[in-house]
Amino acid sequence: MPGDILVERRGGVQVIRLNRPDKKNAITRPMYAAMTEALESGDADPSVRVHLFLGVPGAFSAGNDLADFLAATDGGDFGDEVWNFVLTLAAVEKPMVSGVDGIAVGIGATLNLHCDLTVATPRTRFHTPFVDLGLVPEAASSLLLPRIIGPQPAFAMLGLGEPLSAEDALAAGLIHAVVAEDALEGEAMVLAERLAAKPPEALRLTRALMRGRRDEVQARMREEAERFRERLRSAEAASAFREFFSRKKVR
Ligand code: COA
Repeated sequence: MPGDILVERRGGVQVIRLNRPDKKNAITRPMYAAMTEALESGDADPSVRVHLFLGVPGAFSAGNDLADFLAATDGGDFGDEVWNFVLTLAAVEKPMVSGVDGIAVGIGATLNLHCDLTVATPRTRFHTPFVDLGLVPEAASSLLLPRIIGPQPAFAMLGLGEPLSAEDALAAGLIHAVVAEDALEGEAMVLAERLAAKPPEALRLTRALMRGRRDEVQARMREEAERFRERLRSAEAASAFREFFSRKKVR
């Protein structure tokens, strides 16, 4: 629906807001396409210095829309929007900041692995229940999460499906700060504005050096996507999606 992704400019900061509160910001194919377009056009626009992702109160994102997943289980067209989006996350050259409050599931969690500074609220839980859904990790999280927080904490998230609290995410180096709910967007914007005021080329190069090889990240994304597409057609996945929509909540 139009308005599910809101893109606005605040000086040198491009704000990309997930705005589908009635579905906890579950991301549909048009929403991925809108975010990809914002990232690509913002990266190409010299007046944009920083991308800032925000959600709505209590929900950064509940991840991929499970109705889209369910439609793909019986051979429906899943489309390329999600894969284009994750590849774009790895291709972006300008700093990305995120402000996360509450629900951060699936891509709502893994998106933040591509952000350079993430601010979260105490009630935030980063949750990657791919295995419980019969799926595999995406957005190069199988590569990046172990690198950032260590292999066993990453396996607890990706294998066991254990959520990570904001406090633990801070201790693990996954996020930059934990702030109160009413301070979240202000703090995230201050960080984005501070980055926007830096010499852009020096910042771009510094970020590129720190991010490492983009081709390695994108190769992992493609490998994950191949497995993910196979898993979408599995009986395990179909049963997990049906279970969710029969209101027995996925854990
Ligand atoms: N896809 C589609 N719809 C979703 C969704 C998703 N990923 N997450 C939430 N919704 C919808 C619910 O179906 C519900 O819609 P309805 O009001 O029409 O019934 C609405 O959003 C509110 O969700 P609800 O489950 O009632 O909220 P909650 O606060 O009790 O639980 C979650 C929030 C995020 C814990 C729970 O919705 C959930 O587990 N969602 C699935 C997360 C997931 O597995 N994502 C995919 C990761 S790969």
